Amino acid sequence: MDYNILMEKAIEVSKNAYIPYSKFPVGACVLTENEKIYTGCNFENASFGLTICAERNAIGSAIADGERKIKAIAIYSPNTDNCYPCGACRQVLYEFKSDNGIDVILKQGDGLTFHKIEELLPEGFNL
Ligand code: THU
Repeated sequence: MDYNILMEKAIEVSKNAYIPYSKFPVGACVLTENEKIYTGCNFENASFGLTICAERNAIGSAIADGERKIKAIAIYSPNTDNCYPCGACRQVLYEFKSDNGIDVILKQGDGLTFHKIEELLPEGFNL
């Protein structure tokens, strides 16, 4: 799978973000081990703590479709270069990492940058 396609889908879905409070749109696109693709955007709430991040929205769609292993995720915000996932989303991604980990794909200018989930979350929590 071409990671540029994942980023294009993350960019597209970021346009649907519901962000009346932060005005900070985020889009995410997950690629699973079965080569399936799921997108998600952030959506906020008047009770601020109930906000759902784009990454967890996309991961939730993958899980609801029966997927369990994530190979890659592209994350995008028009507001910043390299929109890194928050700590909560790093831990949620860690739960569903494939045997080769997860490639986290970010956008920097016209290019992409890459990180592994275990680099972004060393010693993630496991049971
Ligand atoms: N946000 C995400 O969607 N993903 C992250 O990893 C960090 C933060 C959203 C939540 C909120 O709607 C907005 O960005 C500002 O925090």
